[in-house]
Amino acid sequence: MASIRTPFQSESPILDNTAIRLRATSTVDAEVLALIGSATFLETYAGQLPGTAIIAHCLTAHSASAWLSLLQSAENQVWLAEAPNGAPIGYALLAPPDIPGQQTTDLELRRIYVLSRWHGRGTGQTLLKTASRAAAKRGARRILLGVWVNNQLALGFYAAQGFRQIATRRFQIGPMTCDDYVLAKPLADKDVGE
Ligand SMILES: CC(C)(COP(=O)(O)OP(=O)(O)OC[C@H]1O[C@@H](n2cnc3c(N)ncnc32)[C@H](O)[C@@H]1OP(=O)(O)O)[C@@H](O)C(=O)NCCC(=O)NCCS
Repeated sequence: MASIRTPFQSESPILDNTAIRLRATSTVDAEVLALIGSATFLETYAGQLPGTAIIAHCLTAHSASAWLSLLQSAENQVWLAEAPNGAPIGYALLAPPDIPGQQTTDLELRRIYVLSRWHGRGTGQTLLKTASRAAAKRGARRILLGVWVNNQLALGFYAAQGFRQIATRRFQIGPMTCDDYVLAKPLADKDVGE
């Protein structure tokens, strides 16, 4: 388990100077991933995407059965970030690439989400490092991902972490056509050993 720094102390007894934990998941975690997957998707896109599209997406892509089938494939790796009391606060999914610009030696960071209340405490960075290390161990040379062109928060985060744009893609969420930047980050030998 990796510990994550807490850069500030809070008045809140819930956020007070406590360590967030990361752990690899298995099929028994499908329901908790459905919960944190839906919660973070709703929180990220409420007000930006149509409500019906968000709800439809959560009920399908973030159903427990959808997560179970993801977890049943050995090619997918999912890490869960948890508050010290065990509540899920974020997750990341590493998967074979299905994205423009991909090469055979790439893996894709398909999802990385942290509840906003926990942003800025290093959780996203630790999830990304953990996924990068796993990808490098699997022999990947790059990590790819797709990010909505309007998602300024994530774009800033990825730029700070060394990702650069290599392509674009267009996708449909309900009635809305969305454009994504496809970003890539080369993996170095140090990613295996860190
Ligand atoms: C992107 C996300 C996962 C980052 O998680 P986080 O836990 O807040 O990020 P961290 O605290 O680990 O930040 C890591 C570093 O990135 C930097 N950073 C974060 N957002 C940034 C921004 N908008 N611009 C520049 N730097 C940024 C932080 O300053 C920090 O660097 P530091 O340690 O040198 O200070 C989180 O913002 C999130 O879940 N967003 C909503 C979901 C989402 O959009 N996911 C991506 C979909 S493609």
